[in-house]
Amino acid sequence: MPANKRVIKPRLPRTTETYQHPEANLPMRPEVGTQAQFKKKKAPRTYRYDSSLSPALEWDGKNPAREAGEALIKEIADCGLRIAELAKESPSPKRDKEVEQLKARIPECRSRLRRISGPFLNWTGKAERLSFDVPTLPLFVHERLSTKAIIETLEGHKSDKQDDFFRELYGDPHHSVTDQVLRAYEYRDDWVNRMILGDSLVVMNSLLHYESLGGQVQMIYMDPPYGVKFGSNFQPFVRKRDVGHNDDEDMTREPEMVQAYRDTWQLGLHSYLTYLRDRLLLARDLLTPTGSILVQISDENLHPVREVMDEVFGAENFCAIIAFAKTTGFESKVISTAGDYLVWYAKDRERVKYNPLFIEAERDPGTGGYRWVQLPDGSTRALTAAELRSESPMPEGARLYSPDNLIAQGAASGPQPFAYKGKTYQPPAGSHWKANYPDGMNRLAAANRLHVSENTLRFIRFADDFPWQDLNSLWTDTVTGQFTDAKTYVVQTNTKVVQRCLLMTTSPGDLVLDPTCGSGTTAYVAEQWGRRWITVDTSRVPLALARQRLLTATFPYYELKEEERGPAGGFVYKRKQNNKGEEVGGIVPHITLKSIANSEPPGEEVLVDRPEVKNSIVRVTGPFAFEATIPTPVDWEGDGVEDSGAISSEDYGSFVDRMLEVLRKSPVLRLEGNRTVQLRNIRPPAKSLSLSAEAMVDASAYGQKPTLAEVVDEAEEKSGRHLALTQKPVAIVFGPENGAVSEKLVYEAAREAHAKNYTQLYVIGFAIQPNARDLIEKCQQVVGVPATYVQATPDLMMGDLLKNMRSSQIFSVCGLPEIRVSKVQADIKTKASYAAKAESQYQVELLGLDVFDPISMKLDHQKGNDVPAWFLDADYNGLCFHVSQAFFPRTGAWENLKRALKGSYEESVWDHLAGSVSAPFAAGEHGQAAVKVIDQRGNELLVVKSLKEAEE
Ligand SMILES: C[S@@+](CC[C@H](N)C(=O)[O-])C[C@H]1O[C@@H](n2cnc3c(N)ncnc32)[C@H](O)[C@@H]1O
Repeated sequence: MPANKRVIKPRLPRTTETYQHPEANLPMRPEVGTQAQFKKKKAPRTYRYDSSLSPALEWDGKNPAREAGEALIKEIADCGLRIAELAKESPSPKRDKEVEQLKARIPECRSRLRRISGPFLNWTGKAERLSFDVPTLPLFVHERLSTKAIIETLEGHKSDKQDDFFRELYGDPHHSVTDQVLRAYEYRDDWVNRMILGDSLVVMNSLLHYESLGGQVQMIYMDPPYGVKFGSNFQPFVRKRDVGHNDDEDMTREPEMVQAYRDTWQLGLHSYLTYLRDRLLLARDLLTPTGSILVQISDENLHPVREVMDEVFGAENFCAIIAFAKTTGFESKVISTAGDYLVWYAKDRERVKYNPLFIEAERDPGTGGYRWVQLPDGSTRALTAAELRSESPMPEGARLYSPDNLIAQGAASGPQPFAYKGKTYQPPAGSHWKANYPDGMNRLAAANRLHVSENTLRFIRFADDFPWQDLNSLWTDTVTGQFTDAKTYVVQTNTKVVQRCLLMTTSPGDLVLDPTCGSGTTAYVAEQWGRRWITVDTSRVPLALARQRLLTATFPYYELKEEERGPAGGFVYKRKQNNKGEEVGGIVPHITLKSIANSEPPGEEVLVDRPEVKNSIVRVTGPFAFEATIPTPVDWEGDGVEDSGAISSEDYGSFVDRMLEVLRKSPVLRLEGNRTVQLRNIRPPAKSLSLSAEAMVDASAYGQKPTLAEVVDEAEEKSGRHLALTQKPVAIVFGPENGAVSEKLVYEAAREAHAKNYTQLYVIGFAIQPNARDLIEKCQQVVGVPATYVQATPDLMMGDLLKNMRSSQIFSVCGLPEIRVSKVQADIKTKASYAAKAESQYQVELLGLDVFDPISMKLDHQKGNDVPAWFLDADYNGLCFHVSQAFFPRTGAWENLKRALKGSYEESVWDHLAGSVSAPFAAGEHGQAAVKVIDQRGNELLVVKSLKEAEE
């Protein structure tokens, strides 16, 4: 190193290897497409409600509660008889044990009987629904994501400053700073956090019965739709946060508003309560014996939700209702509403894990009885009026205090006269000094902690003895505003709220579940605090937001007590003071009357939200998997039935019937640019091998607003005099309910559609395999009939509970990403060239999205930098998508990381991550790259290209 260079103390060097996504070795979560071992069917799970809680309590004839009640009465009687019998036998340990057991059983039966006869909440459909079935499906890993892996691809863009520094320091041009400054927590047993697309009921059932996670979740945070207005629950577009509570009419005029998401349940609150009770029942089974569940709800349905939770968890396990402020108040005809509620139940209140939280106590002069000062000479006086109004400062060295009660209830064994400053004081009859007598009282006097108040003594509690107070169940400091995190999702919960719940009820390393992910607040907070997490949502839009939020987040690195155990070993907390003498560490002293009176060192409290932070480390989100219940079919029997092993042909039949009904109620396919295609006359085809339905489509017009001609047309259709000439017949095939559309399904359906002279084939699915998607694009050339892929919103899987199925947003025609793969020469000035060792590299450019217009039969093109997000898998294995590069065009999504890495990378890197061209990459073992685009609706569009096709 040249002598005149300033020596900078380096951080410990470490060689860096490119981060590899760990392969899942959990047999229960295969990568999508590798599910051959799951061909074996698992029966759906039946959950029974506690019959004692059904409305059958009226003791009518067929009621199971009656049977339960009679059985309990009989059991009590039998116990009594048996005890009487045993009393006649000669004593023995065996006899005594049986008597004990019988005696314990009687109060148990009595309490169940009491519950039966208590009042209960009833609603429509509750009596009929004594049990419900949930399909038991495996979960498949569709995507693996890791911020570290993405940052590794920026190697070539290290800023020169850093480059020179390291080259000079270590003489090693390959050296990377990434590994030193970027870290994520790692968990034992290869645990990988999970974001799951699917209905919470199905996913929780899979967690319970495919993965045996019952009894392992420490905390569940659930923020379900409130069961009120539309906008309070869902957001249909990735980049559009404003959702109005418009009525249906407005919504049809405003195509961005997705009616399918509407929170108008078929039977209103009745359906809502059924929805909630089912999910709570499964949630209970997932909780550890010390676990907690917190449900976020507004004032509108707080009371029935608490009733339902009483029913599911038992009233005895109720912990608290926490009220938290959200806004400064919604205007209303009567008093304004400014907050929401958290209803907290424990699995078992007696055993619940609870870490008390502390907040800074208000200690301004005059508040909470702090109206006195002790001066440096030991004398005391009341604050002056000006001091109380903070108009004049307190004297230098004065300590603010509150005179606290020194007398406890209950007579002492003898009189307790105590002489102080020339006068003797006695506790009143029937009470005693709180400090032990006389030594404790003497110690208080010696410590100058006694305050004379008329005829008695009080304890001097200084404001700085413990400037904290227990957090109670009223949180007024949680308003989302200027200084809190920016909101990306319309119904995003303030992180402070979730953080408190998590810190109160879990320890580092514990598992947390949020069955209503939304924008991923619980996952984000769990990631921050080193808790393992699983989060679930039925909708792709919030999951797209949540992925972006997690991928681009940075967190403080909380020091671990035992590095090798990861967060499960706990964080380091220390006692620390700043130069003003204020306690700033995670351990704070708690001086009490008792500690002074007993001459003990002050107690200590741990502020769990203040672990030690290592500022030299930038922490990012650890690797996580994106999973779904949707597998790709391994095989297809050619009989129109998908064979992923999860469903029978009978189930498929009923699924097709349901889809047909939905399509009839909602016969509109949405295209980009505000246009729709109207299907008419939807019906099952007369005789069919592969097709699910046929319909008529207007040959000329889009059906967004019916034209006069269409109105006439419809009237004619109704009267049977339909002008078939203006319409063309199209064929429809539905993909599987719990699977992706396969190539074979498309091929067979297209052949049949062609043979039967349909003008077009619509393939409607929840997911599609890339080769099937490819075939659809080429269908005209290969089979002779054009085909269009129509994405159905996964919300449909919520079955009969969604009311409004006539929306035009249930089915949308989505585009196919157009990409260019080109060979690039390694640039010798950049790190990329060192890594590439002069091999040729590849680069992908997202040119845009091609959307096939089934009416004009033309391709519409949208630009690549208009999509909300796109990911690259530089070595796609055909099964699971490993996100090696992630782009959020035209956003400042990576801003946090940019700030945290303080100039480690060239400025241009951040523009690159918001653009449409990938960083160069070397070919991997599979020789193909895949690009996944997330469109405005959260649809995921995948395209795969062999690197052999790369342009020079
Ligand atoms: C009120 S939001 C949650 C917002 C979240 N707390 C946040 O901070 O972003 C409710 C979420 O639940 C999802 N949801 C509703 N019903 C569901 C179900 N049955 N299964 C899974 N997710 C569901 C919705 O898609 C929506 O994103």
